[in-house]
Amino acid sequence: MTVTIVGSQLGDEGKGGVVDLYGDPADVVVRYQGGDNAGHTVVEDGTEYKLSLVPSGAVRGKVGVLGNGCVVNPATLFEEMDGLRDRGLEPDVRVAERAHVILPYHRVLDGIEEEVKSETDSAVGTTGRGIGPTYEDKAGRRGVRVGDLLDEDVLRERIEYVVPQKRALIEDVYGVDVDDLEDPDAFDVDAVYETALEYGERLAAEDMTVDAGNFLAEKRAAGENVMLEGAQGTVIDIDHGNYPYVTSSNPTAGGAATGSGLAPTVIGQGEVVGIVKAYLTRVGRGPLPTELAGVEGQTPGYDGHAGDDEEELATYIRDEGGEYGTVTGRPRRVGWLDLPMLRHSTRVNGFTGLAVNHVDVLAGLDEVKVGDSYTLDGEEIETLPSTTERWAECEANLRTFDGWPEVDWDDVDEYEDLPENARAYLEYVSDELETDIYAVGVGPDRDQTVVLESPYDD
Ligand code: GDP
Ligand code: IMO
Ligand code: MG
Repeated sequence: MTVTIVGSQLGDEGKGGVVDLYGDPADVVVRYQGGDNAGHTVVEDGTEYKLSLVPSGAVRGKVGVLGNGCVVNPATLFEEMDGLRDRGLEPDVRVAERAHVILPYHRVLDGIEEEVKSETDSAVGTTGRGIGPTYEDKAGRRGVRVGDLLDEDVLRERIEYVVPQKRALIEDVYGVDVDDLEDPDAFDVDAVYETALEYGERLAAEDMTVDAGNFLAEKRAAGENVMLEGAQGTVIDIDHGNYPYVTSSNPTAGGAATGSGLAPTVIGQGEVVGIVKAYLTRVGRGPLPTELAGVEGQTPGYDGHAGDDEEELATYIRDEGGEYGTVTGRPRRVGWLDLPMLRHSTRVNGFTGLAVNHVDVLAGLDEVKVGDSYTLDGEEIETLPSTTERWAECEANLRTFDGWPEVDWDDVDEYEDLPENARAYLEYVSDELETDIYAVGVGPDRDQTVVLESPYDD
């Protein structure tokens, strides 16, 4: 049986922690999209692991697979695996031969395009990892796949085709002199070829490449449990998110099928667990109707003054929740939970259950608010408009809940141990989304989660 873990909001909902929490009965954990733009945290007995490519099941010693829907920077992957080995783990990671490879020029292009967009105040605020440019090349049929790294002739042919194009792009379109770049080799055919060949040699030496679809089918046929680990979140999905302030892949549940080689019927017969942060955070640009106060450089139109109370509250939540980007260290923008967003997300993904995290972070506030619906053109709407510009015009209608006290979260083992007002808040969310709550996060550690349902149990 499969369990798919999907971010319901804007990323950083605590997906890594839930993969770890539910990962014990799983045999294989698969990332199905994204790349090293992800930053997934697992905390086990106070020891913290931050993972960007290695699937979070590695902490429990599970086999990890990077599916065909991923974009893989082998340099990051090797560094991460070496780091985990130094810490005593034994990551066993297989990479789909159909996955696309992030090469040095992709990162440079990511940076240049963001810089150009920033001149018209339209930068996305990407993680700078080359994610968008690599998916562009995939769709443009000029990408280099993991399987290509294993065949020197094919690799040479692909690189001889694509690198001169990239060089022309940055010189002739962006007007950048390659020799002025920090890494001019990123646009040199021979240098890129050598780097890519070395990636292939190490992947082959460690026997890491697989036909992931077949690999997973065989595991399933042998009765093994597969978990699918989404990265990013529904509202930064390239199709269902707030385009263009999105990532370049499909974090939504459909992506679990196309990005792994498992059939939609297989994913659909399993569980799809939506990960919800009890409030909202966002790194990067784009609208956020329930935002409390802005963050300079990320909140459109923010002039540094949202009012003292709002600033204070946003700073409080950001600091309590440690809301600073795992990958880039940027302060995350903070807002109240947004129900129109979650209704959209529940429809797109068909969640069978929810894990609501960070309930502890809101403790101690007098009141907790939720964007219950929006007003757009004088009408009340309950879900997201399909264009970002219309979304930006939405005004959140806030509903106020009584706050809940700070308690010793280590003593909260059962749902009934949660403060009463926190339960009222959770039940409201569950009722509105007509979806059961499977788990409630009251701290970052594996033990600091109240489990109501375990999706692998029938
Ligand atoms: P992911 O990208 O969805 O895996 O989430 P991140 O790891 O980027 O961000 C979630 C952060 O919140 C991490 O630092 C987690 O350790 C932490 N975290 C997860 N669940 C909880 C929770 O219930 N309470 C608190 N206080 N922190 C949590
Ligand atoms: P996890 O898996 C939060 C955001 C970036 C930017 C936009 C596009 O840890 O939840 P990209 O580099 O993907 O082209 O950037 O998407 N973004 C994330 N935000 N969590 C993530 O991953 C993210 N991955 C990308 O900040 O706004
Ligand atoms: Mg993250």
